[in-house]
Amino acid sequence: MCGIAAYIGKKEGLPIVFANLKKLEYRGYDSAGVAFFNFPDDELGINVIKAVGKLDSLGKAIDGHRSLPATSAIGHTRWATHGVPNESNAHPHIDCHKEISLVHNGIVENYKELKVQLTKLGHRFRSQTDTEIIAHLIEEYGFDQALKKIVGAYALAVINKDEPNKIYFARLGSPLVVGIGRGEYYLASDATALAGLVKRVVYLKDGQKGTISLNGLKMGRVRPRIERLDMDLENAQKEGYPHFMLKEIFEGGEVVRAALRGRLFPKKNLIKLGGLESVEAKLARINRLEIAACGTSYYAGIIGKMLFEDFANLPTEIRLASEYRYYSSPLHKNTSALFISQSGETADTLAALSKANSRKYLTLGIVNAVGSSIARETVAGVYNHAGPEIGVASTKAFLSQLAVLNLISLHWPNSRKNKRLLEELALVPSKIESVLKKSKSIKALARKYARYNNFLYIGRGYNYPAAMEGALKLKEISYIHAEGYAAGEMKHGPIALIDKNFPTVAIVMPGRVYEKVISNLEEIKARGGPILAIAAQGDRNIKTVADDVIYVPKTMESLTPLLSIVPLQLFAYYIGVARGHDVDKPRNLAKSVTVE
Ligand code: F6R
Repeated sequence: MCGIAAYIGKKEGLPIVFANLKKLEYRGYDSAGVAFFNFPDDELGINVIKAVGKLDSLGKAIDGHRSLPATSAIGHTRWATHGVPNESNAHPHIDCHKEISLVHNGIVENYKELKVQLTKLGHRFRSQTDTEIIAHLIEEYGFDQALKKIVGAYALAVINKDEPNKIYFARLGSPLVVGIGRGEYYLASDATALAGLVKRVVYLKDGQKGTISLNGLKMGRVRPRIERLDMDLENAQKEGYPHFMLKEIFEGGEVVRAALRGRLFPKKNLIKLGGLESVEAKLARINRLEIAACGTSYYAGIIGKMLFEDFANLPTEIRLASEYRYYSSPLHKNTSALFISQSGETADTLAALSKANSRKYLTLGIVNAVGSSIARETVAGVYNHAGPEIGVASTKAFLSQLAVLNLISLHWPNSRKNKRLLEELALVPSKIESVLKKSKSIKALARKYARYNNFLYIGRGYNYPAAMEGALKLKEISYIHAEGYAAGEMKHGPIALIDKNFPTVAIVMPGRVYEKVISNLEEIKARGGPILAIAAQGDRNIKTVADDVIYVPKTMESLTPLLSIVPLQLFAYYIGVARGHDVDKPRNLAKSVTVE
């Protein structure tokens, strides 16, 4: 999740831009940089300073320049997409002659063809990024024409040597906000950066562009729509949500969209995974997969096992990472080991990875934090691009992990992928969003059930791990005892617990095991246990057994956990809030578990 900050005014621009980047720090990044003019000595042209890692490294690098009266500056925090996190890939990027410099959020989808064209015209590139293309496009064609050539999404802030008193900006698909102060102007990818600095902002709309200068904000013929900005920093970061957890649950559709973007092409029955390109030939020789992860990522892994066995016909074992390292399993040939981790720093997962590496397995990662230890130490992998997850309980990362597991298993050599399934996968983000629209009724149900002290969560097939994840969410956030169980196991023990004070949350999706789960529910009902069901739209039958039903849209069986988990995340969140807990920071838990 990249961040943009820019300033033009009478004050020193550099410290302001740096401070605003700091405010965007919570979004996560792997490198950062600034570009500015050294007034009055603009002979020197544009200065660019970049650093990999924490913003403090950039802070140190720019320390020597802070006293220079740079009254305009642009800055960026980068979350790598094209090209590894290093200084040359960090923004700002420049054109051939260092006369244009820019920062960019978004993606240039046609960057490969543009690069070929620009190379033929004599342009030389210094980075592996899609963004650098834009600097050269502007050099070649000018700002307005360059924008027309970009297919993709952008939020841009651009400075150029000929007009040092101006910052150009444009937005298409990636957010950008203009802050209006007294005789000074700001740009930010997120209003958070402007909180406390300005009271007036313009939230740019797609297709809008213009300039900020000491002479004001200009947007061609468009009259800027100025709005009031009344937020403190923390509220700004939460974007109006009372908690990060709720904000992140509501990002569910968007993170799945981001995971599929540029990778899933249903019309061509095609999946492209850049992160696996280097190992494609090796994948064809793999005949056995091990998946290891912890907590929520482990539950995603169980669904992953089912996907790999169902679609890639690949025998797959799933292990808790904390067990993996101490388990003396036989050494296999042609084995790949897949590690799933949101943070990329979980100690148990890292230790399991190092064991797999020492066994010379082909290690792969599904990691959200770019450049993290697990991302670095796996041979290849696919990033989630879900943006930072701040709420301690993992929510959006789980959905993103499921999306990526679907992609990898369907992309695996000789997998059983078909157009219909890929089309259905592409529809998942909007289906998640339609579930989120039910948050009010889920909140009411959460209030109704908040008084119980024990819960059973059940599901079968693909929804058995979803039931375990739903139960984990409730445990973490509300401190209520909840167990996730495979519905068919009820009669082998847990049914003894059932009475009127022990509710069951059941995931009952259409598919191979629908009837079986209904029979399990009949058994619970016969013992007086309250039942809340998550069912597919149009299922009237479920009302005859369940006390309450939350409906989610229909989808194909292997995709159902992507929808069934959403109401369970909201249910846990609202119960946690109803019980008065600090849902973003549940007791005894840490976001990144870096100890064994
Ligand atoms: C649960 C949760 C944890 C993590 C686990 C693994 O809500 O957040 O169970 O899923 O600690 O963390 P990562 O995915 O960062 O390796």
